[in-house]
Amino acid sequence: MTDTTFQPGEEFAVAMDARDTLAHFRARFYLPKTEAGDDCIYLCGHSLGLQPKSASTYIDQELRVWAELGVEGHFQAKNPWVKYHRLLTQQTAALVGAEPAEVVVMNSLTVNLHLMMASFYRPTKERHKILIESSAFPSDQYAVNSQIRFHGFEPASSLLQLMPHAGESSMRDEDIETLIEREGDSIALILLGGVNYATGQVFDMEGITKAGRRKGCVVGFDLAHAAGNVPLRLHDWGPDFAVWCSYKYLNGGPGCVGGCFVHERHARAWELPRLAGWWGHEDETRFKMGPEFHPMAGAEGWQVSNLPILALAPLRAAMEIFSEAGLDRVRSKSVSLTGYIEFLLGLRSSPKFSIITPREPERRGAQLSIRLPSSGRELCDRLAAQGVIGDWREPDIFRVAAVPLYNSYQDVYRFVQRFSAAL
Ligand SMILES: Cc1ncc(COP(=O)(O)O)c(C=O)c1O
Repeated sequence: MTDTTFQPGEEFAVAMDARDTLAHFRARFYLPKTEAGDDCIYLCGHSLGLQPKSASTYIDQELRVWAELGVEGHFQAKNPWVKYHRLLTQQTAALVGAEPAEVVVMNSLTVNLHLMMASFYRPTKERHKILIESSAFPSDQYAVNSQIRFHGFEPASSLLQLMPHAGESSMRDEDIETLIEREGDSIALILLGGVNYATGQVFDMEGITKAGRRKGCVVGFDLAHAAGNVPLRLHDWGPDFAVWCSYKYLNGGPGCVGGCFVHERHARAWELPRLAGWWGHEDETRFKMGPEFHPMAGAEGWQVSNLPILALAPLRAAMEIFSEAGLDRVRSKSVSLTGYIEFLLGLRSSPKFSIITPREPERRGAQLSIRLPSSGRELCDRLAAQGVIGDWREPDIFRVAAVPLYNSYQDVYRFVQRFSAAL
C-alpha cells in the first residue's frame, strides 16, 4: 500500500482493521491498561514487545517439570532441558534466513557480540579498525572500544565511525560502500546495526557485506532492531556473524535470551579462537567430562553455559505466534502501518517536529523516529501519562513503532490525534 491510498478520517482506520488478516493476533497479547482500564496505545515494541498470553503456560510447564522431576528434567522431561534451545532452531533460522546449523539462541546480545568478536575480530598492525555507525547503540560502542583495547589498540586510531552528511540524519548507502572501498584494507571488522536504533534506518546489509568481503573485512551485524521487523537473508547475504535480542519485535520478554548467527563457512573453523564453555562442546561426549574442548560444528559451538530454561520458555510462546503469523504478512502490515503514521503526521506538519526515519519503505522497518527539538521529553512523558507509550532517546528523538502483531490502525489514528494535541 502506498500513502496515496490512505484516508484522513477515523473510518479509514476502522475499515482497515476490519479487513486486517492479522487483527486477531492482538487478543493473544496482554495490552497494558490505563488507570481507567482502557488499552494503552502501545507503540513501543522496538524497545520491549508485549507479553504473549501463552508465555505463562510455557513457563509453568517447565516449573512443573522442575517440581516433579528435579534434575531429571534435563533428560526425562517431555522437552528435555539439555536440548531445549533446539525447539527454537527452525523458527529462528527461518526468521533470519539462515540454515538451522547457522543459528543458536543463547545469552543476551552484548554477551554474544563479545563472543563473536573474540573469534572474529583478529586485529593486526595493518588491519585493526572496526567500522561502526557514529550513532551505534551505546552497548555496541562500549563493546567495540573494549575489544580494541583488549587487543592493545586504541579507539582513537582503531575505531572508524560512519557519519551522516551534515544536516542529514540517515546514512547514504553509497557513502558506506565508498568508505569501505577506501579504508577497507585497514578494517578488520565492519559491525553495523541492521536497523539503526535511533533513526530506524535499515542498512543495505547485502551490499555492505559484499563490499566488506571484497576488501577482506569480517562483517557482522547487530540485528536487535531488525529481527522480527524486516526480512533478512543472512545465509545468502553472507556476513560472518550476526547477533540480536528477542525482547523487541519477537516478544520474548524482558532480558530474554538472544540469538546468534555464524555463517556456514565457519561451521568447522576449529582454528578460530573462541571463548569456550561446556555447552559448546560436542553434545554426544559432553557428559564424559573430559578436559579437552571439542566444539560442536556450527553456531551451537559458541555456546558457553547450560540453558536458562525459564527464559527460553516464553520465547517459545512468542516464536510460535510469530511463525503462525509469518514474516511476510507481518512485514506487509508493518509497511502499511508505518506509512499510515507518516501520512497522518504529514497532515499535521509543524516546525515543532520532523520525522528523521527514511521515507522509503525498504529503508525502514516499523519504527518512526520523530525529532522534537524542544520540550520533547516533556511531551513524551505527558503522552505516557495518558497511556500513549513510545520512548525517548536523548537528545531529541521520540521513537514509536506500530507492531503488526498487536497494533491496529485505530491505535495509529489515536496516537496521531493525541500527539498533535500534546504538541
Ligand atoms: C541495537 C542494540 N544493541 C544492543 C543492545 C543491548 O542489548 P542487551 O542488553 O541484550 O545486551 C540493545 C538494547 O536495546 C540494542 O537496541
